[in-house]
Amino acid sequence: MKSVRVFAPATVANVGSAFDVLGFALESPGDTVVACLAGAPGVRITDISGDQRLLPRDPERNTAGVSVAALLQHLSRSGYSLPSTGIELRIEKGLPIGSGLGSSSASTVAAVVAANELLGRPLSRRELLPFAMEGERVACGAAHADNVAPALLGGFVLIRSYEPLDVIELPAPAGAWVSVASPSLELKTHDARRVLKRSVSLEAAVAQWGNVAALVAGIFQGDVALMGRALEDKIIEPERAQLIPGFFEVKAAALAAGAVGCSISGSGPSIFALSGSLEAAKAVGTAMQQEFARLSLGSVVHVSRVNPHGAAVLAQG
Ligand code: HSE
Repeated sequence: MKSVRVFAPATVANVGSAFDVLGFALESPGDTVVACLAGAPGVRITDISGDQRLLPRDPERNTAGVSVAALLQHLSRSGYSLPSTGIELRIEKGLPIGSGLGSSSASTVAAVVAANELLGRPLSRRELLPFAMEGERVACGAAHADNVAPALLGGFVLIRSYEPLDVIELPAPAGAWVSVASPSLELKTHDARRVLKRSVSLEAAVAQWGNVAALVAGIFQGDVALMGRALEDKIIEPERAQLIPGFFEVKAAALAAGAVGCSISGSGPSIFALSGSLEAAKAVGTAMQQEFARLSLGSVVHVSRVNPHGAAVLAQG
């Protein structure tokens, strides 16, 4: 039975100031999906491990299942001759659900990359993006791309426009180290989007686009201090901070321990910080974890560089 095993990494979406338009991939953790050609036509989910039975097994309600079905439909409509079997997916969750680390995106991206490989790679990585975005629509009601694009393509990815989709790949500055602290809480992206106001003041908008532009400049220049300053988020962070117990204390602890900037990872509750060295990033991660512990919250910390590659094919058989 032909099969492909693919890993897709955790991602930090928004990156402070750049709500819905920027994200980057971590080296680890991530999710792994094994896809194989088997059974009757269509998509089936044969097993999900590591999810405490929280995720739907029904492929029409599962983000990975929906995305692979959308890919198959597109290929069939474009005249691509599909195999007579269907595609079976086995999902191994390495990421906690509702953590702000792009958990649904990682499974979805791993699944579409694995299915595309199984079929002889009819589409490029970039062409897979709209199908992976369909999974996000199922997960939270909004087909945002700031998790799926970096999980698929690696590095920092900027979404200049959604309609039409215009995606720009940015470098992965080697000198930037990331500490992410994930408290043992679940926060649904859908709920964290509902708290957001629909309009912003001109003053806040001016500050925000200054920061987003500076963040992109910092990424290109490999200037980690500039990237850190540019994480400042005048619009989303103040509203979502109320959903994350201890957010301001953990952020203050990260900055005091040497981070150059700190904000909410995706829609939270994970909090990420940027530092200029591995040593600093480790110290920052420990400080964040200690601060969560002081507030009686357990947390898991990951320290990583920006992953320049995105999803990786681990094995084919
Ligand atoms: N940009 C999305 C949001 C990312 O903040 O709602 C969710 O992970």
